Amino acid sequence: MTISQKTKQSLSLPPGNLGLPLLGETISFFTDPNFNQKRLNKYGKLFKTSLFGRPTVVMVGAEANTFLFKNENKYVVATWPKSTKILLGSTSLAVKTGDFHTSRRKLLYQAFQPRALASYIPTMEHITQEYLNKWEKLNTFTWYPELRNYTFDIASSLLVSTDGGSQTPLGEYFEEWCAGLFTLAIPLPWTKFGKALYCRKKLLQYIEDIVVKRQQAKNPGEDALGLLIQAKDEEGNSLSLEELKDQVLLLLFAGHETLTSAIASFCLLTAQHPEVLQRLREEQQQLSLASPLTLENLKQMTYLEQVLKEVMRIIPPVGGGFREVIESFEFQGYQIPQGWNIQYQIAQTHKDQAVYPDCDRFAPDRFSPDKAEDKQASFAYIPFGGGLRECLGKEFARLEMRIFASMLLKNYQWELLPNQSLELLTIPTPHPRDGLKIKFSPLV
Ligand code: HEM
Repeated sequence: MTISQKTKQSLSLPPGNLGLPLLGETISFFTDPNFNQKRLNKYGKLFKTSLFGRPTVVMVGAEANTFLFKNENKYVVATWPKSTKILLGSTSLAVKTGDFHTSRRKLLYQAFQPRALASYIPTMEHITQEYLNKWEKLNTFTWYPELRNYTFDIASSLLVSTDGGSQTPLGEYFEEWCAGLFTLAIPLPWTKFGKALYCRKKLLQYIEDIVVKRQQAKNPGEDALGLLIQAKDEEGNSLSLEELKDQVLLLLFAGHETLTSAIASFCLLTAQHPEVLQRLREEQQQLSLASPLTLENLKQMTYLEQVLKEVMRIIPPVGGGFREVIESFEFQGYQIPQGWNIQYQIAQTHKDQAVYPDCDRFAPDRFSPDKAEDKQASFAYIPFGGGLRECLGKEFARLEMRIFASMLLKNYQWELLPNQSLELLTIPTPHPRDGLKIKFSPLV
């Protein structure tokens, strides 16, 4: 709740350590994979730290998530590090707040509604099959970089009509732009941020050329780009060229990294749990669905759905999100001051023993209809965030993951090669240290 000036002074700040001046605890945040777990053990579910030059309160658990998601735009607004804000661009949905954000979300959602999603299936199936054929020929290879190319090719095909985007200059500029997103915003030619700024210019030029060609064509097309070009807000206005470029760049970014992590984790965890793999294959055989897949077919894959949910519970692609406090409030007896940042925690929420007993065990049956462990509390399962800023591409992501998994399970087998580190690196999104070395072959 909001607190008066007098009460504010009487309440203490959450426990924790603000670390060094300016740097705070940012270095440990990046280098220590157990940064949050250690502080959670020491201070409990609410603690202070200092990250990216800002005092920050980390809030963990379903109750905290509910509070934050319900009070978006009242006590908190979404925020990003300076480097991210600049590289995403001033008109990007990610940096907008309040009513403008809500109205833009509605407009962009036109590219993610069920009819639009159904129209993406043939492209997704086609690119998936091309990669499966390639991997079959390769036989042994490192999967994670391949999966990065795979998800980028789908996104670039649907968003910027570029086939095989990962192998074009677009892919190169994009990778270097991504590398600058979470860095110190020092715009010199040799810094990661400076290089990323240069790549942003190149990427925007690339996107502009494609958008202008599409706008001049009689029919802008039914892929995601075509739908965004035709989309209108409540007053009937379309997106300007400048804004369209920022939004396309945001969607390329938001979807690619996260989806790669989710898919790679699915491949890893199923390789490590043959009993789960067996049940997944049985489901595919029982359904024996022909291509092209439909949204209805995919809904029938209920065990696959449970497995994918458990994959994103145990290895969530996004570990948490940042908010800025716009009005001081009280939470669990502590003051949370205006001007501070908040980090809500996805990874730690998913490890709450009270909600997910034996939380480190990979157990897709947690999500079976009779158990439904995630339904015990609101916002106890939040791989896609929640509230007004819940992932806009959630259904796109679920669609791509199910198409990939279904086509893989039906016809192929894979096993982990020995002598590799499967330790998960968490920056920028979780992935195995050695990139997941596998042997891949047709199912016999
Ligand atoms: C926001 C996760 C895939 C587009 C978010 C947020 C999370 C998330 C946690 C909320 C961040 C916050 O609270 O500040 C994921 C995961 C994905 C995924 C786990 C894949 C498994 C995608 C895809 C797209 C997408 C495929 C688009 C093609 C967006 C956008 C936002 C967002 C535009 C910002 C929404 C807003 O600010 O209103 N995502 N995402 N995401 N996601 Fe995703």
